[in-house]
Parts: sequence; structure tokens; C-alpha cells
Amino acid sequence: MALVDAQLSFRAMTREDFTLLSEWLATPHVSNWWREEFDLAAIEARYGPVIDGRDPTECFIVERDGHPVGFIQRYLFSDDPDRQRILAPAGTPDDAAGIDYFVGSPSLIGQGLGTQIIDRFVEDMWTRYPAIAAVVVDVSVDNRPSWRALEKAGFSRAWTGALDSDDPSDAGLNHVYLCRRDQG
Ligand SMILES: CC(C)(COP(=O)(O)OP(=O)(O)OC[C@H]1O[C@@H](n2cnc3c(N)ncnc32)[C@H](O)[C@@H]1OP(=O)(O)O)[C@@H](O)C(=O)NCCC(=O)NCCS
Repeated sequence: MALVDAQLSFRAMTREDFTLLSEWLATPHVSNWWREEFDLAAIEARYGPVIDGRDPTECFIVERDGHPVGFIQRYLFSDDPDRQRILAPAGTPDDAAGIDYFVGSPSLIGQGLGTQIIDRFVEDMWTRYPAIAAVVVDVSVDNRPSWRALEKAGFSRAWTGALDSDDPSDAGLNHVYLCRRDQG
């Protein structure tokens, strides 16, 4: 399939998406790297405040030709000082934003979709967040599909090391990747 021609769109996640999100988070290719609880109560606790506007993180369902294929979220470092502190050793700029993402179905990975999702989403972020200088992602050194997708979407590796973080997804050695506004 020629994914380069795929029509991608990003729609704000709603509570009606929680069941699908739970199914995706339980899928091994996602749960290997996205290490958070995926029962509906945990999803309500984590994402309910986003839906209600009490958490400034923005969460989206990625659709291809009108069908849900994945998830992506973005947040400003200035709204998440703890994340900013954790990533500070990597020399990340304060005026930055972070993203996290996955392709939901194992049948869709390895076909260029993740690269395309990141590329399109970051392009939109320069307009959405006019004050940011860079988009930042930390990724396990063992998660080659993710850091290769970042590289192919225009990100550069800025740092490698262990993060001072309690988040299970940050365990072990991580690469920190940056896409600067003038690169994106
Ligand atoms: C990371 C992710 C979004 C990448 O999307 P994708 O559509 O699978 O990746 P792409 O097809 O765009 O290709 C990216 C690279 O991944 C590699 N890759 C993809 N699937 C792979 C697999 N099953 N085994 C090994 N490498 C794989 C490809 O080889 C490609 O690198 P290359 O061009 O150097 O060969 C997707 O794999 C995913 O959702 N993973 C689980 C969740 C996750 O890790 N999220 C990111 C946390 S930081």
C-alpha cells in the first residue's frame, strides 16, 4: 500500500475513544514501550482530565482515510516542569514541546505510517505553539522503530543517557531527539 498518499487527520480524543485506547495500550508492540496501566479506570484517571480541560496535554486519535490508526499527544514543557527537569541534562531548550505516539495495530507498523504521523503532526505544532523552538522526544535506545521514525521525520539525536525519572517508560538508556523549528 502506498502510505505516502495516505490521508491522515488528527481529531481530539474523547471518552468514547477510551475502549479503543485501552485495546491499543494492551497490544504487546505498544505495551513493550508505553508502560502504563490500560484498564478503563486507569485510562479515566490519566486521560479524563485531558478531556475535561484540567490537564493542558492535548491527545489525538490519528485517522487514516477516516479510520482510527493510532494515538499522539503533545504538551508544552512550560506546562510540565517535571518533564522539563528530567530532560534538562539533555540540553533541551525551555521553550519546547514534547510528543508521544503509537501506531495502534501491529498489522500497520513497519510501513512508514509512524514516520508520516510524526512528520505531519510536528508540522502542525509550529503553528499551534508559535513560541516553541523545538519538539523533543525521549526514546529507549532499544526502541529502534521509534528513533528511526524520528530520524526519518527530521529529528536529530541530541543526547544519550539515563534519565532521572520514575516513569517506567523512561527505564534504561534513552536517546533524546530534537526537531528545531528551522529544521521542521
Ligand atoms: C514507533 C512507531 C510509531 C514507528 O512507526 P512505524 O510505522 O512502525 O515505523 P516506520 O514504518 O515509519 O519505520 C520506522 C523504522 O522502524 C523500523 N521498524 C518498523 N517495524 C519494525 C519491526 N517490526 N522490527 C524492526 N524494525 C522495525 C523500520 O525498519 C524503520 O526503520 P528503517 O527505515 O531504518 O528500516 C511504531 O512502531 C509504534 O507504534 N511502536 C510502539 C509504540 C512506541 O514505541 N511508541 C514510541 C514511544 S517513544
